[in-house]
Amino acid sequence: MGFAYRDGKLCAEEVPLEELARRHGTPCYVYSRASIEAAYQEYAAALAGRPSLIAYSVKANSNLAILGIMSRLGAGFDIVSGGELSRVIAAGGDPRKVVFSGVGKTSAEIAQALEAGVLSINLESTGELERVEAVAAQLGKVAPVAFRVNPDVDARTHPYISTGLKENKFGIAFADAEALYKDAARKRHIRVVGIGCHIGSQLTSSGPFVAAAERMLALVERLDRAGIALEHIDLGGGVGIRYRDETPEPIGAFLDGALGMLAGRKETLIVDPGRSLVGNAGVLLTRVEYVKPGEAKNFLVVDAAMNDLLRPSLYSAWHDVLPVRKGATPADVYDVVGPVCETGDFLAKDRRLAAVAGDLLAVMSAGAYGMAMSSNYNSRPRAAEVLVDGTADYVVRERETVADLFAKEHVLP
Ligand code: LLP
Repeated sequence: MGFAYRDGKLCAEEVPLEELARRHGTPCYVYSRASIEAAYQEYAAALAGRPSLIAYSVKANSNLAILGIMSRLGAGFDIVSGGELSRVIAAGGDPRKVVFSGVGKTSAEIAQALEAGVLSINLESTGELERVEAVAAQLGKVAPVAFRVNPDVDARTHPYISTGLKENKFGIAFADAEALYKDAARKRHIRVVGIGCHIGSQLTSSGPFVAAAERMLALVERLDRAGIALEHIDLGGGVGIRYRDETPEPIGAFLDGALGMLAGRKETLIVDPGRSLVGNAGVLLTRVEYVKPGEAKNFLVVDAAMNDLLRPSLYSAWHDVLPVRKGATPADVYDVVGPVCETGDFLAKDRRLAAVAGDLLAVMSAGAYGMAMSSNYNSRPRAAEVLVDGTADYVVRERETVADLFAKEHVLP
């Protein structure tokens, strides 16, 4: 929907990518508003008819324009830092729809969240419970909290993005949860409002998600009997997308099992999707600088690199690479690599492509964890970001300049 060929030219909605490259340069992230909204509506349709909150996981793509779109759609936000909270507020998001996760919140971040009036601080350890109680007492506030419980369910995804196993750093142990809730409920500056879990990312089947929901629900019922009534159940994010040939269950089907289990329960169901809202709504537009034939391999050296899109280097993630203008039938096989001085700097390997220097390529499915994980490695200014809405396009982040890179640095006197 967001990206398709028209007359041989790859377009973002109504705008040819080559026109965007001409006007905004490369490398450049391009997002489609319509595809973000369509993905959000899939969640909204699946959750219609029950108290729920779609809390967009800001870490996937934290550009203010995207946060603004989410906010206008009525979304809440799942955040992991004070920085993300500030972004949500700057974009017009409602802090009362914010859940704050993460294992290492600082006192300053906790205070910021309490002052802003977030919906819930998701606690991941006893140390954090004590810290939040102390900060709330100091501010004369009562902190709304949930525990992120580790359901010890194998999400069957990449080990770096699997979070719900005992050996992962996330959440409190399932076995400790009831005692911790009872402890928290006795604290004067704490109000227990919910429970959360998140088992991992890029899940293509709902099985592990449903298994986690089942465990959470058993705990909620146990807490109920102990006189601890919760206001919300947060089942996390994790719904996968199609990068290559994955066949992720559609969002409605994915949520169906958990929704069935929750039918008749009054708690608000919170989900915090990131990738499935923005992943396929963005591409990384890049230009071929050199075609470099080699003895063992041929390379297309492009102007985007691992500092722009880290996923292939970090997770061996596969992203489709499409020519921006359909041309000759591809004859050769290339690795698509960037200019960064690392052998691990590649965007794609062994792709059959036809390209000459100057051609444009689109690295697909780059809307989630693309720009958000970018860096300035090799003193490379960060790419521009452009958002397309029908026939209009907006620069939503200007390309960094080299001067930006060292603006905060100082030489010794
Ligand atoms: N909720 C919590 C508590 C999370 O930790 C995460 C992601 C999400 C929600 C959103 O998950 P999603 O719906 O996007 O799968 N950089 C990696 C992904 C890391 C995900 C970390 N946590 C990647 O590029 O694949």
